[in-house]
Amino acid sequence: MKERLLKIRETATEMIESSSSLKELEDLRIKFLGKKGELTDILKGMGKLSKEERPEMGKVSNEVRSHIETMLSNIKETLEKEALNAKLKSEVIDVTLPASKVNVGNKHPLMKVFDELQDIFLGMGYKIAEGPEVETVYNAFDALNSPDDHPSRSTSDTFYFAPDICLRPHTSSVQIRTMQNQKPPIKVISPGRCFRFDELDATHSPMFHQLEGLVVDENVTMADLKGALDLFVKRFFGSNIKTKFRPHHFPFTEPSAEVDVTCFKCGGVGCKVCGGTGWIEILGCGMVHPEVLEECGIDSEKYSGFAFGMGVDRITMLKYEIEDIRYLFENDMRMIDQF
Ligand code: PHE
Repeated sequence: MKERLLKIRETATEMIESSSSLKELEDLRIKFLGKKGELTDILKGMGKLSKEERPEMGKVSNEVRSHIETMLSNIKETLEKEALNAKLKSEVIDVTLPASKVNVGNKHPLMKVFDELQDIFLGMGYKIAEGPEVETVYNAFDALNSPDDHPSRSTSDTFYFAPDICLRPHTSSVQIRTMQNQKPPIKVISPGRCFRFDELDATHSPMFHQLEGLVVDENVTMADLKGALDLFVKRFFGSNIKTKFRPHHFPFTEPSAEVDVTCFKCGGVGCKVCGGTGWIEILGCGMVHPEVLEECGIDSEKYSGFAFGMGVDRITMLKYEIEDIRYLFENDMRMIDQF
């Protein structure tokens, strides 16, 4: 019996020492010390021993049990420490590593310009008016006094869904919607997307953006138009910028003009941005044609108004010196992130 006990002590010592996981250790505890374990099994035979032998065997078996218990608890402690160290090592944070770049995104340059334009006009007392991109030919052309044979009506200029429905070629159609639904005084801007049958190149896109303004009230004159646009230009391009009104023609305004501003890049001397002329054309404008007012049920004897419209893509390109309009719509992040 003593030999069996010492044999168990030896194998248990060996197995416990070479065990490499807590699970393995627990299995060994059950194997040697458990209720059905090897040690318990031997002790069951104690009853058959003589009175003299019993204390001796009791001593040996107690020693073996406590030896195995101490071994188990020592190795357990070591394995637990190792596990903790490994865990700490794997979770270590190197605070000296460079931070990973967080890309928070950026507002599209076109939207930045839209925001800025809207802020300026809201500050001047304008309200925002919106209309649909799919428009009636009546709102896009007829009510705007556009002659039946005007080239802009042709199917090579405007996108049609039906003879009387098109994609709006300008936001001027919102003028008509506003005047038909609202009585003067009217003071609105209409920002939005427009569509024309243009070949895509560096300066043309079949989809582009406009911002149009409309003011209708009693005694509105060309001087009011010039004053309003002059103020807008100074706020947007800078207080040193001058404006020049050149006579032009639009069917829906009379008189009509195009507005040039002194080049904000070279100050009027001539450079690449202004094509060497010192001036940059930025918008079209004029006094609302009496026919247009009457068509919308506004008494043209009592009321007058002015309107203006600008290409927001063009203004964005000028402001950020973007050479190709396609850059605005291709959403190449390398381009967008620059601004
Ligand atoms: N609708 C004109 C265009 O698309 C711009 C404009 C608006 C001109 C209002 C005069 C008055 O070119």
